[in-house]
Amino acid sequence: MKALFEPESIAVVGASNDERKIGHIVFNNLIQSKFSGELYPINPKAGEILGYKAYPSLTAVPGRVEQVVVCVPSTLVPSVMEEAGIKGVEAVIVITAGFKELGKEGAKLERQVGDIAKKYGMRVLGPNCMGIMNTHHKMNGTFTNIHPMSGSIAMASQSGAVCSSMLDWSTKSRVGFSKFISVGNKVDVDEADLLAYLKDDPDTNVIGMYLEGANRGRELMKEAFRTTQVKPIIVLKSGRTSSGSKAASSHTGALSGSDKVYDAAFQQSNVIRVNTIDELFDLLQVFANMPMPKGDGLAIVTNAGGHGVMAADACSDYGLKLASFEKSTIEKLKGYLPEAANVYNPVDVLGDATAARYDFAIKTVMEDPNVSCVAVLLAPLDTVDIKAVAEHLATFGGKVSMPVVGAFVGGTKTNKGIELLHEANVPCYDSPDKAIRALGAMVRYKKMKDASTDTTPVVINGDKDRVKEIIEAVRRTGRTSMSESEGKEILRAYGVSVPVEITAKTPEEAAQAAVKIGLPVVMKIDSPDIAHKSDVGGVMVGVSSEEAVRHGFELIMSRVRSRVPGAALNGVTICQMVKGKEVLMGMTRDEQFGPVITFGLGGVFVEIMKDVAQRIAPLTKHDVDTMVRSIRSYPILTGARGGKAADIESLKDTIFKLAQIALDFPEISELEVNPVMVGDEGKGTYAVDALVVLRREN
Ligand code: ACO
Repeated sequence: MKALFEPESIAVVGASNDERKIGHIVFNNLIQSKFSGELYPINPKAGEILGYKAYPSLTAVPGRVEQVVVCVPSTLVPSVMEEAGIKGVEAVIVITAGFKELGKEGAKLERQVGDIAKKYGMRVLGPNCMGIMNTHHKMNGTFTNIHPMSGSIAMASQSGAVCSSMLDWSTKSRVGFSKFISVGNKVDVDEADLLAYLKDDPDTNVIGMYLEGANRGRELMKEAFRTTQVKPIIVLKSGRTSSGSKAASSHTGALSGSDKVYDAAFQQSNVIRVNTIDELFDLLQVFANMPMPKGDGLAIVTNAGGHGVMAADACSDYGLKLASFEKSTIEKLKGYLPEAANVYNPVDVLGDATAARYDFAIKTVMEDPNVSCVAVLLAPLDTVDIKAVAEHLATFGGKVSMPVVGAFVGGTKTNKGIELLHEANVPCYDSPDKAIRALGAMVRYKKMKDASTDTTPVVINGDKDRVKEIIEAVRRTGRTSMSESEGKEILRAYGVSVPVEITAKTPEEAAQAAVKIGLPVVMKIDSPDIAHKSDVGGVMVGVSSEEAVRHGFELIMSRVRSRVPGAALNGVTICQMVKGKEVLMGMTRDEQFGPVITFGLGGVFVEIMKDVAQRIAPLTKHDVDTMVRSIRSYPILTGARGGKAADIESLKDTIFKLAQIALDFPEISELEVNPVMVGDEGKGTYAVDALVVLRREN
């Protein structure tokens, strides 16, 4: 990776004297950025390019070439790669387009590029990318003519277009980059590799990413977790909607994966996800320029009540608390501010506030022990000297003890103040909401990082041999879908409690079973061909007499026979009736991330409510704790409105067991337990139903 970011020599293959060509622009940018190492233009026809002696091929270069930037048409790229390998090049950046984004033939060509790189042990960035910049190494090896300022943001983007927008924004907002990487098709180097490098990069304080899809989901999670222990990562992941996903895959041929799974992956690795490019800009700005807050108490200083109220409202949306000031703070403010000023949070310094009044209020609230961050709001009233306020606020740039951001709300009049603050590296936004959102993201990152010290996944020892036997027996029948009783047997092998049940083949057997288990009972059709039993009239709950059980048997069998003709029916299962709150648990496998565990409120409205959360196994205690707490209906489990609290510990334990089954048996492609009955505290959790699907063998 060092050869990608800090090479001592670079050759541009396809460098040209024609100013319109990408090879010319890249070579010129390297010169313009004052790259201090050796530069070699490679072109079989040119004698000299931009004052540098041109070489007909890489092997003709007399000295060592550490990095190569490829700007020749795609069909020539494999031969250039071979030559680079022979020359002992360490890193190749393939700017050329026309690979997997074009379909089968392109994908084949791309694989060829990857294979050659592997053969020679070279790292490859791209193809189909804009190139790479390292401002601290004075290297702009891209074909954009924007040379950003040097700064502490590293930005990696899967889209060249987003790269150019970010660069243009950086000029306007006076934001500097440490590294800028256009990753393209990721035949080799991907985001996980970049994070592994950027984590230890002393020039980078915050990492921004535009991601359409990961190639190595688990590696990305691992590196992201490690990196966020040291510095924040903010990701704009597109493809949130199914149409967005489709656009993403046709864009760079990326696998966009299920978007919810990305949410889980980011959550588990402490990555902050944003949904728009504006949000990405806003957050990068604050993380790059301000110190981390120590807590979540916010102080607001404003010259307009309305903006103060809006900012206070936004606090709860973004996880901040309006700080309560100490008595001494209030007294100090009272002593200086006019009588009409509000000295409680939000501090209203009034419409005629001078810069000195703002300055006094800001410095006073910053001394309060309950304040961890400050938002300074300004409305462009005729009585306020915007420039003077901005100049005072500008003195906070680069040397504050806590994050201080501005929100100058307006347009023409406020823009000049915002620009002035950007020059001084003080984040300033055009709305209170954006300012609070930016500060909220800092607090969220800190909380996520502080809470995730427990990194050891919980391991459960189940009866693997028993599960293997069940799987083999099901395989022998040629089925991939297990019956409910087979599924429950698997759960039992891992210690999951299931209600006592007996399958009856006749009404009489059913009645005897019900007496043995204890009335009332639940009756369910037993069939490997029916996944959703209640949909076909295959379930009766609370059957409370022997007679009713006999009748129920006949009814269920006849209903299912008529609604699902041809389904194999083993009989009717008589089950112990367990009481509790209904939740659901499940597992699906994601191509990128592996077993994804779902947990949520159960019951018939689950698909409408969609009150579920996901995490990727293996799971830590922290993962399961945040997953369970994150559903909207969590208060129902803790005993809302005088209800009894559910046995949340046993519920979590069941989630770990399910995750372990998923980890131990990759041949299980899907697992659903719905409903799971969570009893009152201390009463345990029961898997009432089980659906297990095996992967098809070929
Ligand atoms: N070694 C070195 N130089 C060579 C070789 C070789 N083997 N063969 C040819 N050349 C020279 C050519 O003679 C030419 O030089 P000249 O101008 O002196 O004649 C130069 O290399 C370039 O070759 P051309 O055939 O002229 O190719 P051109 O510059 O038109 O296109 C390019 C090459 C830019 C790589 C093109 O194929 C391409 O992929 N363009 C799209 C790039 C892109 O968009 N990438 C993704 C960016 S990300 C985003 O989304 C914005």
